[in-house]
Amino acid sequence: MSFNTFGHLFRVTTFGESHGPAIGCVVDGCPPGIPLTESDIQPWLDRRKPGQSKFVSQRKEEDRVRILSGVFQDERMPEQLTTGTPIALLIDNTDVRSKDYADIRDKFRPGHADYTYWAKYGVRDYRGGGRQSARETATRVAAGAIARKILDRIYGAVTIRAALIQMGPHRIDRNRWDWNKVQQNPFNSPDPGVVNQWADYLEGLRKAGSSCGAIIEVVAEGVPAGLGAPVYGKLDADLAAALMGINAVKGVEIGAGMKAAELTGEENADEMRRGGDGKPLFLSNQAGGILGGISTGQPIVARFSVKPTSSILTPRRTIDVAGNETEIFTKGRHDPCVGIRAVPIGEAMVACVLADHALRHRAQIV
Ligand SMILES: Cc1cc2nc3c(=O)[nH]c(=O)nc-3n(C[C@H](O)[C@H](O)[C@H](O)COP(=O)(O)O)c2cc1C
Repeated sequence: MSFNTFGHLFRVTTFGESHGPAIGCVVDGCPPGIPLTESDIQPWLDRRKPGQSKFVSQRKEEDRVRILSGVFQDERMPEQLTTGTPIALLIDNTDVRSKDYADIRDKFRPGHADYTYWAKYGVRDYRGGGRQSARETATRVAAGAIARKILDRIYGAVTIRAALIQMGPHRIDRNRWDWNKVQQNPFNSPDPGVVNQWADYLEGLRKAGSSCGAIIEVVAEGVPAGLGAPVYGKLDADLAAALMGINAVKGVEIGAGMKAAELTGEENADEMRRGGDGKPLFLSNQAGGILGGISTGQPIVARFSVKPTSSILTPRRTIDVAGNETEIFTKGRHDPCVGIRAVPIGEAMVACVLADHALRHRAQIV
């Protein structure tokens, strides 16, 4: 059994390898009648694509998306609409340099998935990491764009935004948080005050051929109370699985997360009052917008950490496919901090999970 599909009613199946002809996905379960063109998807892909600054992989991919199926328009229709049938999306790989991987095709990069793919399948596309490459995540971002349209159709405006909040040991100052600044610096930082420090830090690592980890925070606003399917389809559990499924992710938390262990019951429980509109008003959001696996109507707050990129220029000890001890250093074009480009991927995964839960909620609650 192969597992390249996620979601229940909003189902995404992805395919393709880093250095194959193309990558893509099939989105099944999108309701009919939703306006959808390539221009709805492309801006999200543009935020993820490599080569946009010296702080990310220098691979130059246009990441142009094509919609192959699942939409229709004729002369009587003012706009192209989804038909309710599977939506296939294709993105060509145009800038592959497979020779960069010739030296390491029989060696396992420490910290990467080379060994485990080989141990499991016995055959491995080593060019750019094949399917273990985060190139695959472009297709998730494309699917996320469709998920956002479903959420907007059902609930009006749902805003799903993410930002880089820590690079290596250097954290943002949350008092300076400004969402408008996230797309105005090469790091997706919401705190402009930290940008120079991050630039110096990452430039030093990059020149040394090294790498660092990061933490990303995702916030979804406008999600009503009630999404989530206890007890084995809890919203927080599904979000955690989706975020943990992103390459290089090693930790996920919701709301106060790991820090909740340090709080008292008084500090942690979000007290409630009656709001001016008659709806509940929570006085804090330690729960990250989810209680009992069901959304509270508060902003949903999730955080995930990514490990330092394992493809580095420093020589490392490893073994080869024959079991011989050897050394490796990785050439090629790599992200010195994968957290930067993980920001739109985190948003997309949250969008897909929320769209899936929105459809599941409507299917159950009549
Ligand atoms: C946006 C993004 C870009 C990445 N770029 C690289 C890269 O250039 N080089 C690399 O070795 N790993 C990169 N990774 C991480 C690997 O894909 C990942 O570590 C590998 O597939 C092993 O999986 P795991 O770390 O989840 O165990 C990237 C991850 C993300 C999310």
